[in-house]
Amino acid sequence: MAAILLDGRAHASRLRDRIARQVTALADGHGIAPGLAVVLVGEDPASQVYVHSKGRLTREVGMRSFQHRLPADTDSHTLLNLIASLNADPDVHGILVQLPLPSHLDAAAIIDAIDPAKDVDGFHVQNAGRLAVGLDAMVPCTPLGCMMILRDHLGSLAGANAVVLGRSNIVGKPMAQLLLAADCTVTTAHSRTRDIADIARQADILVAAIGRPGIVTADWIKPGATVIDVGINRISDDEGKTVLVGDCAPECASVAGAITPVPGGVGPMTIACLLQNTVTACCRIAG
Ligand code: GUN
Repeated sequence: MAAILLDGRAHASRLRDRIARQVTALADGHGIAPGLAVVLVGEDPASQVYVHSKGRLTREVGMRSFQHRLPADTDSHTLLNLIASLNADPDVHGILVQLPLPSHLDAAAIIDAIDPAKDVDGFHVQNAGRLAVGLDAMVPCTPLGCMMILRDHLGSLAGANAVVLGRSNIVGKPMAQLLLAADCTVTTAHSRTRDIADIARQADILVAAIGRPGIVTADWIKPGATVIDVGINRISDDEGKTVLVGDCAPECASVAGAITPVPGGVGPMTIACLLQNTVTACCRIAG
């Protein structure tokens, strides 16, 4: 039987409607407009598309969007000065530095310069540490969106065997922590894991965040499992056109019980969660 397609686009649209109502209430009740600053260094084509979408959707829910586009040869001093000014700006409640940064810049040092209260990506070590020990934290947007999709589909996740494929700071690690906090039994597998297909096949919940097109095949999936495909891979199709594909090969949908499509699954939830984190940051900062 074909898997249920978990429609992230529809879920994200409902979430943005809710955020728009929160933004209206903040404006009417307190005269505050949440503001999101996005910093893009260089001309990476995928990053330009993401940053454009983030600006458009930020404005669509009634928030203020501040975009800073800097040349690829920007030095760290200039970037750190910009972050310091955004940290001090009372109109800015969320700051996001689009990754990847050009290789001459130290991404960890740049992220750690962001005020943790405005770190709507949840990448600052303070937020990563708080999440790890179960304190209130800014949660990275992609794992947060994955959790919303999972809870919407499954309700309680307690006791489920969850396998996370990938161990990045942006997705894999925070995803594993969120699943653990939801009382799953969690395994993280990665490029050096032995017998990765056998481990994946134990999963009631499988989160694929490897970044390799179609690496997860049908034989990696337990029949009926819920599969979250975080991969957003750009490849050329037979006609040379660029298309987006996930980490899961299309035939996974014939074994899984439910699966997120690519595009239209996790991607739209990531941006909606960024907007939600910005409202949360605004409410905390404004008291
Ligand atoms: N590049 C790809 N995904 C992300 C993200 O979620 N946040 C930032 N800052 N950069 C990204």
